[in-house]
Amino acid sequence: MRILVTGAAGMLGTSLVPVLRANDHSVLATDINTSDPNIERLDVRLIADVMRFAEKFRPEIIMHLAAETDLETCEQRRDYAYQENFIGTQNACVACRHLGIPITYISTAGVFDGMKTEPYTEFDEPNPINVYGASKFEGERVVRDTIPEHYIVRAGWMVGGGEKDKKFVSKIIAQLDRGAKTLHAVNDRFGTPTYAPAFSKVLEKLTRTRYYGTYHLACMGRWSGR
Ligand SMILES: NC(=O)c1ccc[n+]([C@@H]2O[C@H](COP(=O)([O-])OP(=O)(O)OC[C@H]3O[C@@H](n4cnc5c(N)ncnc54)[C@H](OP(=O)(O)O)[C@@H]3O)[C@@H](O)[C@H]2O)c1
Repeated sequence: MRILVTGAAGMLGTSLVPVLRANDHSVLATDINTSDPNIERLDVRLIADVMRFAEKFRPEIIMHLAAETDLETCEQRRDYAYQENFIGTQNACVACRHLGIPITYISTAGVFDGMKTEPYTEFDEPNPINVYGASKFEGERVVRDTIPEHYIVRAGWMVGGGEKDKKFVSKIIAQLDRGAKTLHAVNDRFGTPTYAPAFSKVLEKLTRTRYYGTYHLACMGRWSGR
C-alpha cells in the first residue's frame, strides 16, 4: 500500500516506518520535526499542507501518529493541545474523505479515567481526566464521525523508542546520566507497557485486514511509572 505517515519522527513512527517498508509498503514519512532528512515536513494543523501532501502522494491510507504527547504541555497550553490532537486529526480525516481512503488513528489509554482496577477493554466508556486524554478523545470522535473505514488503536504506555523515548525510560536514564544514587519514579499510577517495535508489527498486520474498528493494543503485564 501507499501509506502517508504523520508524526513519523516520533517514538512510535521511528519503529513503525521501517516495519512498513520491510513489508513492501511505499511510505511517505512526514513530521513537523525534520531533523531526519528522510522525513518531509508536514504540520498536520495546516489543512492546505495536509491536502497538498495527500494530492501529491495519493496514499491508500493515512496512518496518523502526529500529536502533542506531553501531558504537562497539554495542561498548560489547552488550545494548542486541541489544535494538535483534534484539529490535526480532523485535517487528516478531511484528506481521507477527499481521497476516499481509510485512516489509522493512534489513540491512548488516557481516554479513560483510570478508576478501573482491571485492564480497560474496548467496551468501556472513555472519561478523560486531563487535556491530553480529552483532546485525543475528540480526535477519536472526529475519526468515527467522518471516516467509517477507520482503525482507532489505543496504545498503553509506550517503551522501546530508543533515543526518541521522552517518557519513563528516558527519564530514568536521564537520572542515571546525572549520577543519581537514588532513582525517582512514579509509584501511584499504573498502566500497561507497550513495546513500540511489537506494536508496530501488529499495527502493520491490522492495517492490511480491513477489519475496521476500535482496538486496544498493548503488551502483557502492569507497571507503575510515567
Ligand atoms: N508514547 C506513548 O506512551 C503513547 C501512548 C498511547 C498513545 N500514543 C499515541 O501514539 C502516537 C505517537 O506517539 P509517540 O509516542 O511516537 O509520540 P512522540 O514521540 O511525541 O511523536 C509524535 C511526533 O509528532 C510530531 N508532531 C507534533 N505536532 C505535530 C504536527 N502539528 N504536525 C506533524 N507532526 C507533529 C512530534 O514532533 P515534536 O517532537 O517536534 O513535537 C513527534 O515527532 C500519538 O498519537 C500518541 O498520542 C503514545
